[in-house]
Amino acid sequence: MKENIQEVLISEAQLQARVRELAGQLLRDFGDKNPVFVGVLKGVLIFFSDMIRQFDAPCQIDFMWISSYEGTNSTGSMVVKKDVSTPLEGRHVIILEDIYDTGNSLDFTYRHLLSKHPASLTVCTLLDKPARRKEGITLQPDYTGFVVENRFVVGYGMDFNEQYRNLPYIGVLKPEAYQQQ
Ligand code: IMP
Ligand code: MG
Repeated sequence: MKENIQEVLISEAQLQARVRELAGQLLRDFGDKNPVFVGVLKGVLIFFSDMIRQFDAPCQIDFMWISSYEGTNSTGSMVVKKDVSTPLEGRHVIILEDIYDTGNSLDFTYRHLLSKHPASLTVCTLLDKPARRKEGITLQPDYTGFVVENRFVVGYGMDFNEQYRNLPYIGVLKPEAYQQQ
């Protein structure tokens, strides 16, 4: 697995330090609000579990699973495969995401959760890849871990063909690794 990594973009230590900072900011802003953290599976898993363990105050967690609609033409529309089970009306909801790329997933998730009438809806993304943003998507994350350049990344929950999620850092694959499997 490691032999397929061309470059480590964000090390384990950098990730842990930034997660502590982000969780500290959320603690300052939501520490007395018993927020509901909502993760969008699967990529957010590692970031999510690190963040909530640094959030040293009452909170709840829930998850969504969404996928792009498998139509004949790629319209960018999404469907909910698994919805949250926590009633969100009147709650302070914090969406945690692994990466804000074209923006389709987060935009869809945001609008879906907004329709449940939370008291507030906040977006925290570990990575932001602004160069990839689709035209017309205007959502700005409230908290961002790292802004990254336009390269495909793996590790710390993020995959290529469902592999590499278990790497403890974020890296870029060697070109030949995309031919494998
Ligand atoms: P979107 O394009 O912003 O809708 O991102 C959709 C999802 O694709 C993200 O939540 C990630 O799970 C995944 N994704 C986007 N860019 C990357 C990447 O560089 N590496 C791994 N997964 C990615
Ligand atoms: Mg994701």
